[in-house]
Amino acid sequence: MKYLTVQEAIDKKKGKVLIRGWVYRERGSSKFKFIVLRDSSNIIQCVIKKEKVGDKKFSIADKLQVETSLELNGTIKEDKRAPTGYEIIVDNFKVIGASHEYPITKDQSVEHLADMRHLWLRSRKMTAMLKIRSAVFGAIHEYFRGKGFYEYHSPILQSIQCEGGSTLFSVPYYEQKGVFLAQTWQLYAEPAIFALEKIYTIEPAFRAEKSKTSRHLSELWMAEMEAAWSTFVNLLDYGEELLKFIVKKVLKENKAELKILERDVKKLEPTVKKKFPRITYTDALKILKEKCKVTITWGKDLRTIEEDKLSKLYDTPVIVTHYPKEVKAFYMKEDAKNPKVVEGADFIAPEGYGEIIGCSQREESVEKLKENLKKQGEDVKEYEFYFDTRRYGSVPHGGFGMGVERVITWICGLENIKDSIAFPRTLTRWKP
Ligand code: 4AD
Ligand code: MG
Repeated sequence: MKYLTVQEAIDKKKGKVLIRGWVYRERGSSKFKFIVLRDSSNIIQCVIKKEKVGDKKFSIADKLQVETSLELNGTIKEDKRAPTGYEIIVDNFKVIGASHEYPITKDQSVEHLADMRHLWLRSRKMTAMLKIRSAVFGAIHEYFRGKGFYEYHSPILQSIQCEGGSTLFSVPYYEQKGVFLAQTWQLYAEPAIFALEKIYTIEPAFRAEKSKTSRHLSELWMAEMEAAWSTFVNLLDYGEELLKFIVKKVLKENKAELKILERDVKKLEPTVKKKFPRITYTDALKILKEKCKVTITWGKDLRTIEEDKLSKLYDTPVIVTHYPKEVKAFYMKEDAKNPKVVEGADFIAPEGYGEIIGCSQREESVEKLKENLKKQGEDVKEYEFYFDTRRYGSVPHGGFGMGVERVITWICGLENIKDSIAFPRTLTRWKP
């Protein structure tokens, strides 16, 4: 007999089945043992009857503990009272791996669950999130490849900063100093557009974020793109299309997981159907003043609370463009019409899930790049290789980075970004 997954067994509806998995719940009486068995596909109730398997086998069944792995065969039938509507009357079973006193029982603290992360991954909610995560990664590849982008890889060990020195992780590198973990692929991606024109990646990125928030990780996955010949508007279109593509895919393929996570899918639907509002930073300040009674001095960056207030005015991500030059990164292109602002944009997720995409057209003038870097106290000599991209056939270009965990947190409706990745790394957590 062939092994079926739990879901395949349920889909079969009746007859003999052979399945394998882990004990998710168990309870028993002197004559029956009820087991809810789980595998990666679903859960199903199984009944082991003493009169059917005999005294000896029943005494083994009676002692089965949570997370024991086993295989069993029997007859499946509909049972409205069972958790997934079907039940297997077991003919025989075999223990594969014993489990004793599984350390995760009901009512555990957040801290204990974090310590037990390697086991907590098996929980239904984590499993559902991990499946959606897999779908999101798949959708990113599918979207970019469908648009003719090449997948390109940058180094993780880098010698210059891109997003500000304060969030760099230094790495001991043989006897050398000045080696850091990548904050982004960008400075090593721009050189490659002169070979491949349209490129993307999904890579780990590292930020030494010295504050504890529900949306910052020290190690995250970033989906990034860079395109030669692009205009600023092209970039915004790519970002909007990508988010629509991802959300549409998850809504179609992960209904069961969204249900397990108790996500209200109605809140995600507008993202697929409606055009994202595009507003300038200057207009965002006006809107915040009029609708939220928040006054921000022109030139100050939007803080988390202000982004949250703004996001709650819309049911799709909102794209804020043309930020003041001072608050944005050194590589963002000055706006030709107004040198006080840059052709840079943040995509802010609805429902207060924060900035999910950071995007910009790239400054082409070596002089301006140097000036901006000097203001940050950087040694411009280290950036010579990067300036070369502007010296030999420079073209208008730009790109963006999407925080994949931020997107997963939003799609799944999670309270904390830590639950959007298997083993989160934060200021206070790097084990297990
Ligand atoms: O806005 P950021 O800093 O942009 C860049 O790194 C550009 N170089 C990307 C590019 O143009 N190629 O980061 C991009 C996104 C943010 O919008 C946010 O969603 C996410 O990465 N992000 C984080 N997510 C979780 N934890 C952190 N500490 C994050 N820092 C950034
Ligand atoms: Mg940003």
